[in-house]
Amino acid sequence: MEVQSNQIVVEKSSTTKINEVDFNNLSFGSVYTDHMLVADYRNGSWTIPKIVPYQPLTLDPASKIFHYGQSIFEGMKAYKDANGHVWLFRPRDNHARMNISAQRMTMPQIPQEYFIEGLTALLELEKDWIPTQLGSSLYVRPFMFASGTGFHASPADEYKFLIALAPSGAYFSGKVKVLIEETYARAANGGVGYAKAGGNYAAQFYPTKLAADKGYQQVVWTDDHNHEYIEEAGAMNIFVRINDTLLTAPTSDRILDGITRKSILELAADMGVKTEVRKIKVSEVVEAAKNGNLKEMFGAGTAAVVSPISGFGYQGVDYDLPELENSYAQTIKTKITDIQYNRTEDKFGWRYKVV
Ligand code: PLP
Ligand code: COI
Repeated sequence: MEVQSNQIVVEKSSTTKINEVDFNNLSFGSVYTDHMLVADYRNGSWTIPKIVPYQPLTLDPASKIFHYGQSIFEGMKAYKDANGHVWLFRPRDNHARMNISAQRMTMPQIPQEYFIEGLTALLELEKDWIPTQLGSSLYVRPFMFASGTGFHASPADEYKFLIALAPSGAYFSGKVKVLIEETYARAANGGVGYAKAGGNYAAQFYPTKLAADKGYQQVVWTDDHNHEYIEEAGAMNIFVRINDTLLTAPTSDRILDGITRKSILELAADMGVKTEVRKIKVSEVVEAAKNGNLKEMFGAGTAAVVSPISGFGYQGVDYDLPELENSYAQTIKTKITDIQYNRTEDKFGWRYKVV
């Protein structure tokens, strides 16, 4: 049955998988809700998005996604508060970043009304899937890829934009120990590091596997030039606390402009914490670890929220971080999640009410 809700066409699933899901034991991003949003870009414009039952896609083997990797995505979360209202966190920023990624990958821009209203309509339909268990939320994955065909190495003429939803628990299951990278690079000047392009993640898998084999959960990427400066991690920006100053690297064309990162910078300033956005030398962090001035390191991102780092490896030596009471990571995590789950006032205007 097709019903028209505003502009978005909704084709409802006749069945639901919701009763098969154990909401008390959710992993990250591995079960998907009953519906997804789909729009097609053809002849220079987008079709009106449709909400359809979640289902596999049929693609021509010559689709350019398979050959030349034109693929971008975003990551957001939907939260349900104690009164059953549904919230997003700064969704317009994700939309803006998706279009920055699209431009870099020579893909079409996505109109804001398709992104925001499409997502809103999908979330209204799927609101029963939003977990309320502590630390859980509905992960939102908007993505676009080249469905147009051809072996000519040039941009496709057709694209698909989709939004899929996954009720999710924590991204990391335990402590996060990281390896500071000395050989491989995630991104280079003039490259696509600032875009959320699928290939950026594929390129990380091999060095991350090598690090995992040595017992590290994440690689901390350093500059591609001579691995002298800390940049970011696989799925998060990195913060370092030396004494009472909170440091993070400036964004650049190599680093993703994280929405959590910029929110934390504002929150920390609001808490009266001294922040510095500047290049961070690996040698400075190692030195601070040796002389006891390195108090904390943590990752920040939508999926990872605020993830304290328990220690890091560098040049064959492991450095442990102290376990602090009243850590910046814990205080900031509480503040940001209180805003996200509507447990507190939001003086920054970051929360976005869906329904
Ligand atoms: N850096 C990378 C490479 C990421 O994939 C992410 C996740 O989205 C982030 C940083 C954090 O960005 P955000 O806070 O917008 O989720
Ligand atoms: C996110 O935090 O939303 C991301 O996109 C990270 C992803 C690679 C899991």
